[in-house]
Amino acid sequence: METGLAGKRVLVTGASGGIGSACARAFGAERAEVVVHYHRGRDRAEALAAELGGAQIVGADLTREDDVDRLFAQAGRLEVCAAVAGTWPSEDVPVWELPLERWQDTLGANLTATFLTARGFLRQLERDGALVLVSSTAGLFGEAGHADYAAAKSAILGGLLLSLKNEVVRKAPRARVNAVAPGWTESAMTRGHVSEEQVQRISRTMALRKIAQPEDVARQVVVLASPELSGHVTGQVVTVAGGMEGRVVHD
Ligand SMILES: NC(=O)c1ccc[n+]([C@@H]2O[C@H](COP(=O)([O-])OP(=O)(O)OC[C@H]3O[C@@H](n4cnc5c(N)ncnc54)[C@H](OP(=O)(O)O)[C@@H]3O)[C@@H](O)[C@H]2O)c1
Repeated sequence: METGLAGKRVLVTGASGGIGSACARAFGAERAEVVVHYHRGRDRAEALAAELGGAQIVGADLTREDDVDRLFAQAGRLEVCAAVAGTWPSEDVPVWELPLERWQDTLGANLTATFLTARGFLRQLERDGALVLVSSTAGLFGEAGHADYAAAKSAILGGLLLSLKNEVVRKAPRARVNAVAPGWTESAMTRGHVSEEQVQRISRTMALRKIAQPEDVARQVVVLASPELSGHVTGQVVTVAGGMEGRVVHD
């Protein structure tokens, strides 16, 4: 099926990570011109760029305004942006013990980084374009022990997304903004948390008794970015979580 992404310039943030690299490959398969972003994983970004036939790579800490400005200056004109970068602090900490520093770091690396990415992308947008934000099922159902992460991801798929989809058309009348909310997905972020036994527990509120592969998420990102497949879809959240209905609160 034709996605209409061939030749489009696509920035993938967090392309050095599991879901981001799958997105970069999926856009590459549509013959898009991918710009590979990384933060600390330059080696991974370089290997991916080589695999994509010599894609441009750009490094930036997306929590820093000056870094983000430099990234967009280096990336040049873009028609699509997949804002995938984010972090999940693995330690389980209830709110009454949550240090302010972790709260601020988590909001910075997820919500502020997404805001700065969206701002940089929209500033340079001229005609049609598509922005896809990556949130999480934590933003839909909450996540005990990770209220910082859940709050950041909820803000992305709530107020940020719904405001952006109405703002973006002031700049470009056909431009669209959507979000993907993955559930547990195999990547560096979840390594050590998705053993067979853990997946059995995790999937108790899911129809499909498995976790996602990065490619499952990437395909939905590509569909939402596609002007052919999603040309009249904006402000929507696609959940990629095997039919997850919520959390098991008690054993
Ligand atoms: N895996 C899951 O189960 C899951 C579930 C729901 C949502 N998500 C979301 O999906 C997205 C991708 O996660 P993943 O599973 O692919 O994790 P991952 O493999 O750990 O990748 C995270 C990516 O984010 C980048 N990053 C982190 N902090 C950054 C910062 N301050 N500035 C710029 N880039 C930064 C990393 O860059 P470097 O590695 O180069 O430093 C890396 O490319 C995240 O937003 C995550 O919250 C993941």
